Amino acid sequence: MAEKRSVRQATVRGRRVLVRVDFNVPLTGSGEVADDRRIVEALPTLHHLQTAGARTILLSHLGRPDGRKDPRLSLRPVARKLSSVLGQPVPLAEDCIGINALQAAARLQNGGFLLLENLRFHPGEEENDPTFVQELAQVGEVFVEEAFGTVHRAHASTVGLPHRLPAYAGLLVEREVRELSRLREEPEHPYVAILGGAKVADKLPILNGLVGRADALLLGGALAFPFLAARGLSLGASPVEPGLEEEVASLVDRASKNGTVLELPVDWLAERPGQKEVVPCPADAVPSDVLVRDIGPRTRDRFFARLDGSATVFFNGPLGRAEDFRFSPGTREVLAGLSTLHGFHVCAGGDSARIARDLGVEQAFQYVSTGGGAALEFVAGLDLPGLSAIPDA
Ligand code: 3PG
Repeated sequence: MAEKRSVRQATVRGRRVLVRVDFNVPLTGSGEVADDRRIVEALPTLHHLQTAGARTILLSHLGRPDGRKDPRLSLRPVARKLSSVLGQPVPLAEDCIGINALQAAARLQNGGFLLLENLRFHPGEEENDPTFVQELAQVGEVFVEEAFGTVHRAHASTVGLPHRLPAYAGLLVEREVRELSRLREEPEHPYVAILGGAKVADKLPILNGLVGRADALLLGGALAFPFLAARGLSLGASPVEPGLEEEVASLVDRASKNGTVLELPVDWLAERPGQKEVVPCPADAVPSDVLVRDIGPRTRDRFFARLDGSATVFFNGPLGRAEDFRFSPGTREVLAGLSTLHGFHVCAGGDSARIARDLGVEQAFQYVSTGGGAALEFVAGLDLPGLSAIPDA
C-alpha cells in the first residue's frame, strides 16, 4: 500500500484538528474503561499535536447504539481515562455536532483537547449521510485518521470527513499499516494463519483473501464447522451456520488450486448441555447430543506441527470457548507452543490479545494490532475505505 500523507506534514498550530480515534474500548460492569490499550496507542499522535500547538478534537464511536442516544454508551468514562493518561482535563462535549460541539471547540486553546460524544448516537454516522458529514466538518479545519480499528467501515467520520477536510494519517495508523503490510504485501514464508471464533459468514471473505497469500490456514472454533459439515461430518448438537455451502465449496477449491493447506480439526473437546464433564471425541464420530467446544489434543499437535518452522504467523482466535477453563486448552496450548518459536507473529484485535493475556500466553506475539476486523481485512488484501480516503504522500 502506498504511503499516506502523514500528520507530521500537517500545519496545525492554532487550528481545530478533528482526530478520528477508535476509543471503542471494553467497559467494566460499573461502566469504567476495562482496557485502555486503544487510548494509550493514540498517545504519540496526541502528544505530537499538542507539541505542534493544535486544538485537538477527538471523535470516536463506542459500541453499536444504532443511531440512538444511549447513556450506557456515553464516552464519559473514556474522557475520564483520557484525562488521567494525558495528565490534563479533557472535557466531553455532550454532542458531536451542533451548537454544543461548536461552542466547546471554540473554547479550545492551542495544545488543548476536547472529546466529542459518541458518533453513533446519530444515524448519519453509519449511513455516511452528507448533512451529518457537513455538520461534523464545521467543528474542525483539518482531519487526522487515527482509528485503525475502524478504517474498514465506510462511515461519515472515516470516509465523509477526509473528503471534506485536508486529511492526514495519524502515527498509529502509519504503524499499523507498516507492520501489517509485512503480511499483506510480501509475507515471509512459510506463512501460517490461525483463525477461529464465531461470525463465520463475516470471516469467509477474509479466508478467501488469505488463500494464495498464506501457506496454511489452521481453522478452529465455529469457523471450522461448515468446512467439516461440507465433508459430511457431524458437529453433534452444535449449530452450523446455514447457507454457506457454496462459498465454502469454492474456497476449498481455490485453496487446493493455490496450494494453500486448510488444516481442520481432527478431534474435539465437547460437552453435554447442563453437564460438567468434558467429552473428547474424534471429528468423524461426534455424538449427536454434544456441543463441540474446543479443538482436541491431536488437532493441537497437528496445528503445532504446521507452526513449527513458519516465518510468519497471523492469529485471530480463539480456537474454542476459551473463557471456560475446560475449553481453553486448545487456544492456550497452541499459543504457548507459538511462544517457543521464532518468526514474526501478529495478533489481530483486542479480544484475541485479551484472551492470550488471560491465558498467560501473550508473549506469543511480536505485534498486536489495535484492529480486529480492520486488521483481518487488511492482511487479507481487501480495500479499506478509511485508508483509501486519505491522500497518498
Ligand atoms: C472494533 O472494535 O473492531 C472497531 O471499533 C469497529 O467496531 P464495529 O465492528 O462496531 O464497527
